Amino acid sequence: LFIVHITPELATVAKVGGLADVVFGLTRELAIRGNHVEIILPKYASMRYDQIYDLQEVYRDLWVPWYEGAIHCTVFFGFVHGRKCFFIEPHSQDNFFNRHSIYGFHDDVMRYAFFSRAAIEFLWKAGKHPDIIHCHDWQTALVPVHLFEQYQALGMTHPRVCTTIHNFAHQGITGAELLRATGLHRPEHFLSHTRLGDPRHPNALNLLKGGIVYSNFVTTVSPRYAFETKDQGQGFGLEPVLHTHHIKYGGVVNGIDYDVWNPEIDHHIPVRYGIDSLDRKYDNKRALRHRLMLADNEKAIVAFIGRLDPQKGLELVRHAIFNTLERGAQFVLLGSSPDDRINADFWGLKRMLNDSPDCHLEIGFDEDLSHLIYAGADMMLVPSRFEPCGLTQLISLRYGTIPVVRAVGGLADTVFDKDHSNRPLHERNGYVFNDYDNRGLESALGRAIDCYNAFPEHFRELMKNAMRCDYSWNRPGQDYLNIYDYIRDA
Ligand code: ADP
Ligand code: GLC
Repeated sequence: LFIVHITPELATVAKVGGLADVVFGLTRELAIRGNHVEIILPKYASMRYDQIYDLQEVYRDLWVPWYEGAIHCTVFFGFVHGRKCFFIEPHSQDNFFNRHSIYGFHDDVMRYAFFSRAAIEFLWKAGKHPDIIHCHDWQTALVPVHLFEQYQALGMTHPRVCTTIHNFAHQGITGAELLRATGLHRPEHFLSHTRLGDPRHPNALNLLKGGIVYSNFVTTVSPRYAFETKDQGQGFGLEPVLHTHHIKYGGVVNGIDYDVWNPEIDHHIPVRYGIDSLDRKYDNKRALRHRLMLADNEKAIVAFIGRLDPQKGLELVRHAIFNTLERGAQFVLLGSSPDDRINADFWGLKRMLNDSPDCHLEIGFDEDLSHLIYAGADMMLVPSRFEPCGLTQLISLRYGTIPVVRAVGGLADTVFDKDHSNRPLHERNGYVFNDYDNRGLESALGRAIDCYNAFPEHFRELMKNAMRCDYSWNRPGQDYLNIYDYIRDA
C-alpha cells in the first residue's frame, strides 16, 4: 500500500509528547511490512535539524488557498532515521511555523488549519495518490473534511482516511471564521450539528469532530480509552458523536520502538542489560544516583517522567514524592510544562526538598536522562487522571522498571496488578490502583515498596514478567493494516 501520514509531530525532530513517538514507530513498522510510507509535517523553525538527513527543497511553488488569496509555500524532503518526510514551509506574514516552539500560540488553530489544507494541496500538486491517508489529532482533522468537499464536487468518493485521536482533551474549537480562511466553499453547510458544529458551544466549530464525521475509520490509542470516551463521559463533549459513528470507532494500543527503547542495545545508558543479566540494571541505578547526586544506599528508586499537565495527576505526583520519602525510598522526577505557573510550582517543591539526599526533581525536557531513569529506577509512577494510552509504562516494562499506575485508559489495558489481577501470575507486571486520591495511590505505592524491601525474589520475578511483555509495534502494526484493508474494501 501507499500510505501517507499527516502529522503535527514526529520523533526525533519535532516531539512534544507520545504522538511523536507513535508516528515514528508506526511508520517504520508499516514500511518493514513492505508498504510505501511517507510523512508530511510542518517545517518548524524549532526542529532538530541535526536529525534530518539530506534535507533539500523539492517544490518551490506550492500556492495554498487562504482567505481570498493564497499563501506561497516551499516543500522540503529529507530522511528522519530512514523515514521519508516532506516538510511544508509557508511564507506567510504570520510566520506560522517559524517560531520558537511547536505549540502554545493564540493562533494554533489557524496554523494547523492552514497546514491541513497545504498537505492536501501538496499531495495533488505532486501527483501523489495514496491508498490511505492517516491523520493524527485535531491538528490534521480538517484533511478528511476538505477531501470530502473536493471529491463530492467531482461526484467521487475521497481517498480512504484513518484518523487517530491521541487525546480528546484537545479538539481545535474555534469560531466559524476559520472555514472561510481555509477555503471551504460552503462554510454554512459545515457548521451544522451533524458536521463540524461543536456539541457544547453553539456557533463554534470543532475540528476534531470533523475528523470523526468525515474519516472512514477513527481510532484512539487503547480499547479502554475508546470505551471511556464513548460511554463513560471522558469524550470532552464528543460522546454523542462517537455514539453516532461507533461502527467506525475503535482502540488500538500503541507500541513502542524496540530499536530505541531496549536495554540490551541502548547507547544512552552506561551498562546494557537483559532479562538474563538483571544485576547489571543496578549499575545503571548507581550511575543515575551519581548523575543526580542522590545518596547511594539500599533504597528503592521511584520515578516519574512526563509532561507536567493536570492530565498526569500532578496532585498525586506531589503526594507520592512525600509518601515515597516517608516510606524510606528515593524519588526522581523528570518533567516540564508549557505553563510557567506549573513549572514554578515544581521549582518551589524542588527548593523545599533541596536538602534531601533521596530526592531529585529535574524540571525540563531531557531525552538522554530519560533513558537513564528508565534503566536505573525500580518503579515508575503513572497516576494519571486520564491516559489515552501512555508510553512511559510501556517503556518501563521493557526496562524491568515496575509500573505503579492508576487503572484508566491504556494504563488499565497494559498493567496488571501483582496481587489483585485476575490474570495468570506470569502475566502480572505492576501495581494498580483505582481511585484518584491519596489513599488509592498509597495502597499501590506502599505494596510496591514493601515487596521491593521484604520480598526481593518476588520483586525480581515481577521484573522478569515485565520484561517478557511484548509491546512492540508488531501487533498494532498488523491491527492498523487490517483497518486499512477494511476501509479500502468498504
Ligand atoms: P503524553 O503523550 O501524554 O505526553 P506518553 O506517555 O504517551 O504521554 O508519552 C510521553 C513520551 O515523552 C515518552 O516517550 C516520555 O519518555 C517522553 N517524555 C515526557 N516528558 C519528558 C521529559 N521531560 N524529558 C524527556 N522525555 C520526556
Ligand atoms: C497522547 C496521550 C498519551 C498517548 C500519546 C500517544 O499524548 O496523552 O496517553 O500515549 O498521545 O498516543
